[in-house]
Amino acid sequence: MCGIVGYIGNREAAPILLDGLSKLEYRGYDSAGIAVYNGEQIQMEKTMGRLKVLEELTQDGATLPGTAGIGHTRWATHGSPSDLNAHPHFNKDHSIVVVHNGIIENYIKLKKKLQAKGYEFLSETDTEVIVHMLDRYYNGDPLDTITKVMHRMEGSYALGIMFRDHPNEIYAVRKDSPLIVGAGKEGNLIASDVPAILRYTRDVYFIENEEIVKLTREGLHFYNIDEEELEKESTHIDWDINAAEKGGYEHFMLKEMHEQPKAVRDTLTPRLKGDEIVIEELGMTDEEIRSVRKIFIVACGSAYHTGVTAKYVFEGLARIPVEVDLASEFRYRNPILESDSLVIIVSQSGETADTLAALREAKAKGIRTLGIVNVVGSSIAREADNVMYTWAGPEIAVATTKAYSTQLIAHYLLALKFARVRGTISETEFTAMTEDLRQLPEQISLLLSHKENVQRFANRYLAAEHIFFIGRGIDYAISMEGSLKLKEISYIHSEAYAAGELKHGTISLIEDGRLVVAVLTQPELYKKTISNIQEVKTRGAFVMAVTTVGNTEVEKVADYVIYLPETNPYFTNSLAIIPLQLFGYYVSIGRGLDVDKPRNLAKSVTVE
Ligand code: F6R
Repeated sequence: MCGIVGYIGNREAAPILLDGLSKLEYRGYDSAGIAVYNGEQIQMEKTMGRLKVLEELTQDGATLPGTAGIGHTRWATHGSPSDLNAHPHFNKDHSIVVVHNGIIENYIKLKKKLQAKGYEFLSETDTEVIVHMLDRYYNGDPLDTITKVMHRMEGSYALGIMFRDHPNEIYAVRKDSPLIVGAGKEGNLIASDVPAILRYTRDVYFIENEEIVKLTREGLHFYNIDEEELEKESTHIDWDINAAEKGGYEHFMLKEMHEQPKAVRDTLTPRLKGDEIVIEELGMTDEEIRSVRKIFIVACGSAYHTGVTAKYVFEGLARIPVEVDLASEFRYRNPILESDSLVIIVSQSGETADTLAALREAKAKGIRTLGIVNVVGSSIAREADNVMYTWAGPEIAVATTKAYSTQLIAHYLLALKFARVRGTISETEFTAMTEDLRQLPEQISLLLSHKENVQRFANRYLAAEHIFFIGRGIDYAISMEGSLKLKEISYIHSEAYAAGELKHGTISLIEDGRLVVAVLTQPELYKKTISNIQEVKTRGAFVMAVTTVGNTEVEKVADYVIYLPETNPYFTNSLAIIPLQLFGYYVSIGRGLDVDKPRNLAKSVTVE
């Protein structure tokens, strides 16, 4: 996720910007840049790669003198990582400079309008439209110009802006992307997050959506979008620096679980346009969508589990046969791929060796490939015929949470799009389902707000040796992910079973006090799974059930019940995963383990 820093004061700006950016490295980035105003002109240096490269390039900031500046670490979204796509971005005569965190959803439309007016674009970023728009509407009054541009932008943004005509000012604004302002003794600062400014001040102003701030050497002025000045209270921050990097959360995994409502919303909303699903990156005409006869979904680990869910969703909604493969199997099994197949490759990192090899295998056979990828510009993103990005932002904890949740969303959107084009669902069903999708971020937030209940329950199972997860259909897919989440971070042996399969062997492992987590969100399968719960109960199991609100019958057989808000049965996985992630997390920290870096595991598995 991009990081922003800005400084105006009595000290040299560049070293402060570089230092601030180094405190934002945890957010993940692929390029960095700074722009400093030396009193006459704004000078800029930016480069792909680590901050060290920028430090060398600027001799630790010495080549960019001046006491006002803005800096940025970029995590690529629009356009691959490159020097040109790195921020800051200038307007044509270098009189305005901008850094941006977020996504401008209507940038293509804005870019076309600007191009028609003669504006030339140097980068592939959505950000460049902002600086050219500021140029286009500039009337000598930065505040008025900024609000004019805000009225025209859709999407999310935190911006740091400098105008050559206003040497003693920096402007900042935010909408749905983080931005804070620090009031220091030797100058004032902006940043995406608290750690960047803690060395200079602990007095922080949290900027609300659509608020604008003017920073001068002497003070701070806050405005709303109607250009009315606002009074704001500062907050004194007393976190230590480590806690600050995690936004006050104890671990990255907890932080990333809490980022899921936003990640899901960011992945959904740009593609839900009115009552249409628009996936421009799909690159398939309706005719091509209709001609697909079979889908292969290929991935590893949790990404594979999203594929298992997607099989039920695609087959149920779009009536296309789906095969789900582990990438390490697919690449060697010589699958029968016909020219009317579509291969969907799912990967957070876009670098997983087996998944990449599977993609190349499909391409070598001339089959159309679609990547569902989180990291922009990664190998899978570059090599797949088309790529649909999940907008989860960088994931740092080894155990995936928010990337998993956004992969599910990508599958739902594709399945619904295919179903609509192929005419396998009615208009009414389609509308109701898109409405259910829109509710998911709020529902996920609600489940996260009950985390203490899950923690209390998890604390009872810190010494467990084996834990089983059961479910049917989509609930089996979620059981697989719940079980993986638990075992990878708690080191407790765990297995997931299709609930009807237990009595074919595994039930012999059920004994007094054994915890069985039963997921039952599928109305047509409730009764069947309740019978399976009864089978393990009579053999002494302790049962935690995860089910949809209203399904109170479960209370008769389960010992502990977690209720999920109501959604379409195809989407329940997005909700059921929340208590299961929390359960794994709390068991892990209860056992005193390193939850963000579990033993033997790497975040990106680039070897076979
Ligand atoms: C589990 C986990 C892994 C990854 C798998 C694939 O929490 O994170 O199972 O899902 O290694 O990684 P990507 O998605 O980067 O290809």
